[in-house]
Amino acid sequence: MEYLEFAVELARSAGDILKHYAAREKFVELKGRANLVTAADKEAEALIIETIRRRYPHHSILAEESGAHSGKGPSEGKWVIDPLDGTTNFAHGYPSYCVSVGFEKEGSILCGAVYDPTRNEMFSGAVGLGAFMNGERLQVSEAPTLSDALVITGIPYDFRERIDVIIEQFRAMLIDSQALRRGGSAALDLCYLAMGRCDGFWEMNLHPWDTAAGRVIAEEAGARFSDFKGNPFSIYMKEVIASNGRIHDEIVSILESSRSGK
Ligand code: IPD
Ligand code: CA
Ligand code: CA
Repeated sequence: MEYLEFAVELARSAGDILKHYAAREKFVELKGRANLVTAADKEAEALIIETIRRRYPHHSILAEESGAHSGKGPSEGKWVIDPLDGTTNFAHGYPSYCVSVGFEKEGSILCGAVYDPTRNEMFSGAVGLGAFMNGERLQVSEAPTLSDALVITGIPYDFRERIDVIIEQFRAMLIDSQALRRGGSAALDLCYLAMGRCDGFWEMNLHPWDTAAGRVIAEEAGARFSDFKGNPFSIYMKEVIASNGRIHDEIVSILESSRSGK
C-alpha cells in the first residue's frame, strides 16, 4: 500500500534525526512545567512535513509541534504526526522513544508506522493488511485475566492537577494485575501491546498524534480499544484503554470504580 510505504519512509528518516541528536547536545526547552521539546522534535517534524508537502500537496497534516496544516485544494487525507514520542525519555538518554506517523482518510486511520531508532524496530500496520515489526506479523497476547497481565500506563503532563485519581487508578491496577509499567511513549506502548510485550494499556490525557499510528497497528494485531467506560474510541478522545481483548472488561471496571472513588 502506497501510503503505508510512505509512512514507513517518513518514520525512518525522522528516526535518523533522533539518532543524530541522541548522542549530542539536545537543546531542551520547556513547553510546560514537565513538558519538554528539543531540537530533534522540531527538526524531525520539519522534515516529515516538507516530505509530505512535496509528495502529497493536497493532503492535510496534524503535527504535535506545529499544529494543523491544510493542503492545497480539497483534502484527500490527513497525516497525523508525532515526530518524537517519548521526549522526556529522549532528553534523559533513556532509550524508549519513537517517531509516529498515521494516515487518516474520511475519519478512519488507514495505516501507520512507529519507528524506535534505539532498537531499530519498525512497527507498521494498515487496515485489512495486518500489523508487522521489521516484517514479522504481530498478534496480541493471550493473557486470559488481569492477574496474568503486564499492563502499561502513561502519566499526563498535568498530573499534579489530577494526582488523586491517577494514584487511585495506579493503586487499583497494581493490586489486580500481575505487573504495572510506565513506559513514557504511548505510541510504543500500543506497539508493545500489538506484539504481546504487554497485555493492556490505559492513559487519561492523550492527543491524536500519540495514538494515530499505534491504534491501527494494535487493532490489526487483534487489540480492542475503548474509552474508560468501554465506549468506542476515536484518536480525538483523551481517554484510552487498549488491550488484548480478554482483559478489557476488567480494566474498564477498575477505572470506573477508581473514578467514583469506590
Ligand atoms: C507523551 C508520551 C507519554 C505520555 C504523555 C505523552 P511526548 O508524548 O506519549 O508516554 O504519557 O501523555 O504526551 O510529549 O513525549 O510526545
Ligand atoms: Ca506524544
Ligand atoms: Ca512528541
